[in-house]
Amino acid sequence: MSTQIFSLQGKTAVVTGGGSGIGKAVALLFGQQGAFVHVLDLNEDNAAATAKEIGEAGGKAAAHVVNVSQQQDVVAVFEKIATPHILVNSAGVSHIGKLDTTPEADFDRIYQVNVKGVYNCLYAAVPLMKKNGGGAILNMSSIAAVVGIPDRFAYSMSKGAVYAMTLSLAKDYIKDGIRCNSISPARVHTPFVDGFLAKNYPGQEAEMFEKLSATQPIGRMAKPEEIANLILYLCSDEASFITGCDYPIDGGFIKLNN
Ligand SMILES: NC(=O)c1ccc[n+]([C@@H]2O[C@H](COP(=O)([O-])OP(=O)(O)OC[C@H]3O[C@@H](n4cnc5c(N)ncnc54)[C@H](O)[C@@H]3O)[C@@H](O)[C@H]2O)c1
Repeated sequence: MSTQIFSLQGKTAVVTGGGSGIGKAVALLFGQQGAFVHVLDLNEDNAAATAKEIGEAGGKAAAHVVNVSQQQDVVAVFEKIATPHILVNSAGVSHIGKLDTTPEADFDRIYQVNVKGVYNCLYAAVPLMKKNGGGAILNMSSIAAVVGIPDRFAYSMSKGAVYAMTLSLAKDYIKDGIRCNSISPARVHTPFVDGFLAKNYPGQEAEMFEKLSATQPIGRMAKPEEIANLILYLCSDEASFITGCDYPIDGGFIKLNN
């Protein structure tokens, strides 16, 4: 019998967006803690690389290429997995723009991945969790859900929806033994941040990186591993009394920026 705190021995975990950034850090940590980790990602090479790294460290993992915005494909993958005890919805995309610089196509793209993608994974996982006697779900919201961040109109919309879905799901399935929480990181240094700096601020990447780092009162961005540690706690049996909550993990962004 394992007495290791935050052990995930015997658990099956699904991590969307597990090919990169926060999802990757979560997948690696979950593998280290003994879970069988299913890495879901649009990017085949990255999903496979995460699963390989888990295997090389002595863990168990499988990679699945799936677009979370396609419900039939998502349901098919979860049916194969069959007994998801833990679901981490980390797949997400970013967008820079105010209302009048957010064309319909961009709004729809953000909605399809960040909102519908989360809905699809919940839709696929919850019936299986109910059948298996419960589960733990962690959704990736953002400080943008509760603070007005400049130029994040569509992204903020999507993260507000993630927060609201978290509360609704936690309420409806509490009697089924399903816990559902979200976390709201401030900036985390991942390819997500590097990608949007390169796309939106070409030639000014270093300057914008420093500017974004300084918006956290702690003076830097988070590392993906720091986010993964909180997610491990919330998905472990040690957090068995926690449901329907959102946890800022933000270097003081929400409460200390005054
Ligand atoms: N990095 C930050 O500063 C930050 C802050 C707050 C919240 N978040 C949220 O955390 C989550 C992870 O962000 P990250 O920084 O690790 O990003 P990332 O870009 O490093 O990783 C996101 C992963 O999601 C995958 N993905 C994208 N669209 C997909 C789709 N349709 N189907 C399946 N997979 C898809 C990508 O291939 C990638 O592997 C996102 O939901 C993001 O909104 C990030």
